[in-house]
Amino acid sequence: MAKEKEREKERNMFVGVVWSCAAELKILLTALLFLCSLATVLQFLPSRLSISPSDFRLCLSKLSSEAPPPPSLPPPPVPSPPSLEQDQILDGGIVKRAFNPYGAAAYAFIQMGTYRGGLDTFAVVGLASKPLHVYGKPQYQCEWVPDSGNQSLFTDGYKIYPDWGYGRVYTVVVVNCTFPEPVGADGSGGKLILHSWTNGGFDRDVNATEKIEALREAPGSLNVSVFKSPPQFDYLYCGSSLYGNLSPQRVREWIAYHVRLFGPKSHFVIHDAGGIHPGVLEVLKPWMEKGYVTLQDIREQERFDGYYHNQFLVVNDCLHRYRFMAKWMFFFDVDEYVYVPPKSTIKSVLDSLSDYTQFTIEQMPMSNKLCLAEDAGKTYRKWGFEKLVFKDVKKGIRRDRKYAVQPRNVFATGVHMSQNVAGKTTHKTEGRIKYFHYHGTIADRREPCRQLVNVTHLTVEGIPYELDSTLRDAAQSVKRFELKTIGSRLQRTRQ
Ligand SMILES: *[C@@H]1O[C@H](CO)[C@@H](O)[C@H](O)[C@H]1NC(C)=O
Ligand SMILES: *[C@@H]1O[C@H](CO)[C@@H](O)[C@H](O)[C@H]1NC(C)=O
Ligand SMILES: *[C@@H]1O[C@H](CO)[C@@H](O)[C@H](O)[C@H]1NC(C)=O
Ligand SMILES: *[C@@H]1O[C@H](CO)[C@@H](O)[C@H](O)[C@H]1NC(C)=O
Ligand SMILES: *[C@@H]1O[C@H](CO)[C@@H](O)[C@H](O)[C@H]1NC(C)=O
Repeated sequence: MAKEKEREKERNMFVGVVWSCAAELKILLTALLFLCSLATVLQFLPSRLSISPSDFRLCLSKLSSEAPPPPSLPPPPVPSPPSLEQDQILDGGIVKRAFNPYGAAAYAFIQMGTYRGGLDTFAVVGLASKPLHVYGKPQYQCEWVPDSGNQSLFTDGYKIYPDWGYGRVYTVVVVNCTFPEPVGADGSGGKLILHSWTNGGFDRDVNATEKIEALREAPGSLNVSVFKSPPQFDYLYCGSSLYGNLSPQRVREWIAYHVRLFGPKSHFVIHDAGGIHPGVLEVLKPWMEKGYVTLQDIREQERFDGYYHNQFLVVNDCLHRYRFMAKWMFFFDVDEYVYVPPKSTIKSVLDSLSDYTQFTIEQMPMSNKLCLAEDAGKTYRKWGFEKLVFKDVKKGIRRDRKYAVQPRNVFATGVHMSQNVAGKTTHKTEGRIKYFHYHGTIADRREPCRQLVNVTHLTVEGIPYELDSTLRDAAQSVKRFELKTIGSRLQRTRQ
């Protein structure tokens, strides 16, 4: 009874809220209607009138853009349009039409990071307007301004497009600035300025230029031995953008497996595009505290529409940021598990590939729902790579590869391989190294096992599968390794 009354009260309150909103809505709508009709009427007034309709429309659009308090963003650097042109009647009655531009729809350049690649060379990693780069020929020039007050040095910036044409509004650009001689090599400090020109691609009458302070090097901050010394890490993982509702348990399994595989001289750079919610952070924390993981919050990139949460941007930033800190850099995803056969180690395999700047790795696609009948009733206690043991063996399908590079010989990078390397690339790595891919398991918070079977070969929905327990067999030692390294704090992690 009391409950009933409460509900009644709630309903009344709800209706009240709707009503008071409705009143405000009505005022708003009336005001809008009035403004719109005014704008429409003004369109038809003779243009002799002292306010032209376009002036008014401009004012309206200004009004509407000023109406909500701007969220503390700096106003975009919009080039001011040339003064308003009018249509003209030429001799012979020809109507010369005017074209009046307003605003700019994409930034010329969005800088993410600038890194030294040696005494005379830099990489500026960023996004740029894709149509400008696809249909125009924008130019870059790099200027080194020494703090000493000595004259600047200039060089042309060389553009690298690492995203295979996948960009959207924005495309990834790595500008390589290589000077004819070392700059700031004595550690006296200076700054790198990147000049960009739209060079006709934005407006043939306007060579819009930007002056970007790409890097500031404080006096005494340059450590030249970094470029020659052996790297701090043997293996560094550059992850691409993580987003969505990731499973903490799957991430826990992945990181434990790979820290064990790559060993004490390894490091993992994880890029959080919104996927590292508190549950996932919880499983990364122990490894961050041990110095194995660096988390980069890249959520802001979401403002700029590029390919797949700007994954090509972040892997290029990662390459240049950590280029001198690792002997080998790996590029693959958190639903993929790199594997080297027993009797070899990751070190012995990579030593055998040391003549190559780059090698690619073959994929073993695994089912994300088939499990073993013997696990019935205890699947929830088993790890993902322990219970998902059926390999898709369909022939004649081109499957994605993943890859690793020796980063000092790499100038830009992709997701499946790099096309900007010095030195050799090999794809002949079968039998030496491979990766197991558990597609669609990382962002699934439910139990993955949907079908329990007690056979070693079967066909489901036209796809032949066979039992492959390679990673299942490693599960116990990975669990022991985790317990030994970070203790029991992740034992209660949820899917
Ligand atoms: C820029 O390109 C040159 C020539 O390909 C290369 O030697 C240099 O390492 C590159 N610089 C960076 C920072 O990638
Ligand atoms: C400045 O330029 C002069 C003349 O080229 C040179 O002798 C001097 O070493 C330069 N100073 C620095 C700090 O680079
Ligand atoms: C724009 O300016 C740059 C730098 O001065 C120059 O190289 C380029 O030719 C100019 N482009 C046009 C279309 O004027
Ligand atoms: C300079 O870099 C080397 C090699 O990475 C390192 O051993 C040394 O400690 C660094 N020096 C300073 C002053 O940071
Ligand atoms: C396989 O499973 C089915 C049903 O679960 C059962 O009837 C059959 O006896 C099992 N076969 C073997 C070889 O375990």
